[in-house]
Amino acid sequence: MVISPPYRPLRGKTCLITGAAKRLGRASALALAQAGADIAITFRNSAREAQQTVVDLSSLGVRAFALRCDVTDQASVKSMMNEAGRQLGRIDILVNNAAIYQDVAFERITLRQWDDMFASNTRGPFLVSREALKWMRRRRPGAKRSKKLPEAKIINMGSLGGLRPWATHAHYCSSKAALHMLTKAMALALAPQIAVNAVAPGVIDLGEKSSFMKRIARRTPMQRNGTGDDVAAAVLFFATAPQFITGQILAVDGGWGL
Ligand SMILES: NC(=O)c1ccc[n+]([C@@H]2O[C@H](COP(=O)([O-])OP(=O)(O)OC[C@H]3O[C@@H](n4cnc5c(N)ncnc54)[C@H](OP(=O)(O)O)[C@@H]3O)[C@@H](O)[C@H]2O)c1
Repeated sequence: MVISPPYRPLRGKTCLITGAAKRLGRASALALAQAGADIAITFRNSAREAQQTVVDLSSLGVRAFALRCDVTDQASVKSMMNEAGRQLGRIDILVNNAAIYQDVAFERITLRQWDDMFASNTRGPFLVSREALKWMRRRRPGAKRSKKLPEAKIINMGSLGGLRPWATHAHYCSSKAALHMLTKAMALALAPQIAVNAVAPGVIDLGEKSSFMKRIARRTPMQRNGTGDDVAAAVLFFATAPQFITGQILAVDGGWGL
């Protein structure tokens, strides 16, 4: 658990998080729901896990629903966004979490693998963010017309691999480095109404009991692998942070990248 109820700093806020049926996206969605936000999650193939996550989110006393979306497909993003916006009324927080990951020796990376990696990990967050803007630039339903639009946040899930090179992940690392730069360019383009930041997880243990994980934990200054809660806490930090914090890439890696 990231925060203890009844502290609900996001009560009355709405959040859309992509690829959140399971793993880190689910952990972030649960943390945002615990903080009081209504949540729309998207899934591509994991329909069953998405439904379970919706049940778990709803049990925290917030409104939650799941929509299918392929972030590489413009038509799919547009139709998901129309439905998410219609149901939420406005989007306060967008978390671009959906991504793919592959371990391939450099000389074996195919053109298809390279393009798929960028389509999911870089173009996807661009497309979803662009389509979310009209819902982030809208007043809350029923709100009085005030001079200022409510503040909004975009949080991109980057990676330590976008900050440090990994030999057998050239396409993944490049796609996440590009996402980090997109985060900064969007922070400039969308200020002052929208703050844009990225969380860059290091090695996160989601139940894999491998010798690789143990080796990395030993080499990590904090002497352990990260957890879903560590990453969710960083997402929650940006979701609740002052709007003055924008364009930042926050490594959540126990010091491994130092
Ligand atoms: N896990 C780590 O150690 C780690 C480390 C560094 C960075 N990160 C980043 O943190 C985020 C979450 O990590 P994770 O390990 O939980 O991710 P993951 O399990 O690899 O992927 C999350 C979800 O992304 C969705 N997805 C993939 N391609 C999609 C597409 N084209 N359209 C829509 N959805 C798509 C999948 O949804 P469906 O299952 O519904 O198909 C998947 O469940 C990712 O951005 C990842 O790159 C993770």
